[in-house]
Amino acid sequence: MRNENPVNTYTWVPLTIQDESETLLNIVSAEKEFVTDSDGNVWIDAISSWWTMIFGHRHPRLLLALQNQLQSLDHVMLAGNIHEPAENLSKAILDLTESNFAKVFYSDNGSNAIEISLKLAIQYYQNLPNSKPRSEFLVFSNSYHGDSIGAMNVSGQNYFNRIFSELRFPTKEFPAPNCMNCPWGKKPDHCSTECLSDLELAIKQKDFAGIVIEPLVFGANGMLFYDKKVLVKLRELATYTGTLLIFDEVFTGMGKLGEPFAFQKAGVVPDLLVFAKGLTGGILPLACTLVPKFIYETFRSKDPYKAFFHAHTMTGNALACSLGYEAITMLNEFGLTQVKELEKKLKQYAESFQKKMGNSIENVRVMGGIFAFEWKEPVANDEYLNPIGKQIRNSLRKFLILLRPLGRTIYITPPYTISDASLEKIFFALETTLLGFLEPEKY
Ligand SMILES: Cc1ncc(COP(=O)(O)O)c(C=O)c1O
Repeated sequence: MRNENPVNTYTWVPLTIQDESETLLNIVSAEKEFVTDSDGNVWIDAISSWWTMIFGHRHPRLLLALQNQLQSLDHVMLAGNIHEPAENLSKAILDLTESNFAKVFYSDNGSNAIEISLKLAIQYYQNLPNSKPRSEFLVFSNSYHGDSIGAMNVSGQNYFNRIFSELRFPTKEFPAPNCMNCPWGKKPDHCSTECLSDLELAIKQKDFAGIVIEPLVFGANGMLFYDKKVLVKLRELATYTGTLLIFDEVFTGMGKLGEPFAFQKAGVVPDLLVFAKGLTGGILPLACTLVPKFIYETFRSKDPYKAFFHAHTMTGNALACSLGYEAITMLNEFGLTQVKELEKKLKQYAESFQKKMGNSIENVRVMGGIFAFEWKEPVANDEYLNPIGKQIRNSLRKFLILLRPLGRTIYITPPYTISDASLEKIFFALETTLLGFLEPEKY
């Protein structure tokens, strides 16, 4: 079954322009880095299904963990109860962060985990003795923190959220640091974080509840890489002004950059840490917000008005937690080594890719398990809608490669376990497709 148009499905397929004809693939099975459609075509899932399947699809160890958990406990509400899968996972997460945090607050997706971090930050200042309330956040233009109202609100204003701008609670937005194309023409080794000068002025003039940022990589909104210097400076400013520093590691967590978390790669510890995506190896939804002792302590009281009243029905689902525990065990056993090996391979491919493509591409970059570049095409007003993205995506389908370019930004984030043969196929498909755009008569 193939539907030529999303209006023909009972399901409302997301991030899809409903009346624009699009061939939806009917996926019937998945294994490793592959998904198979109902016509028997085997596709390479080159972005790990929105960055979740870090160990590939249906990894036997994750399946076994799930089956084992099913033998005893499926789900129980996590209010008034606790269970071993949640406790085991929480302990494993706190260990993974080298004990920089004291408590794990579970939710089901990245947007919710962000909402929780915002609410915790706001309530922290209310609970903190002798503190004035604070509720405004400092945010960045190219950031993406999710599609629920609060998460949207702290994301950069763009095509995704502009329609809802009347709902925005106060935030102050600054241009995203961009070390690939520094507006000051500086290189990270010789810069004085000029990109944060306006933010520095703002944060010293007014009390903000928090700075919300994706550390080292702005993912969904352009795969922008920036230097850890920015985070060092933000940490300094946050500490100086008593503002909470919130890292959104929904994308960068679980080893994506070669360390368990980007904060460890940068050597900068945030005050609240949010992550999701790869946490269960992509099999079930689970997210968490990590809270350090100094914040948690302000919620410890017999006064019910100091308690944090937030929960989702499926919070701490036992099946998801048992998967998370196994995924972290695998990350420690071999996942991090695999990402580092993948990074080496991606760097080699990036070099030869750049040579072949010449100046038709720019900003070729690799960090951990991320490879990205821009196709030299005029930037669109709403870059996500830049038609070149869809054109490239569709052309790659001929090679059975699943990608979702972000406008003219093309990237891959394969499972850490991807085979050499599949990597080779992805780069062959990219080269052939893009060279074909340049010289259609030849390809
Ligand atoms: C950095 C970041 N934060 C938050 C989210 C939202 O996560 P979810 O889609 O699970 O709500 C995303 C999703 O892509 C993300 O990349």
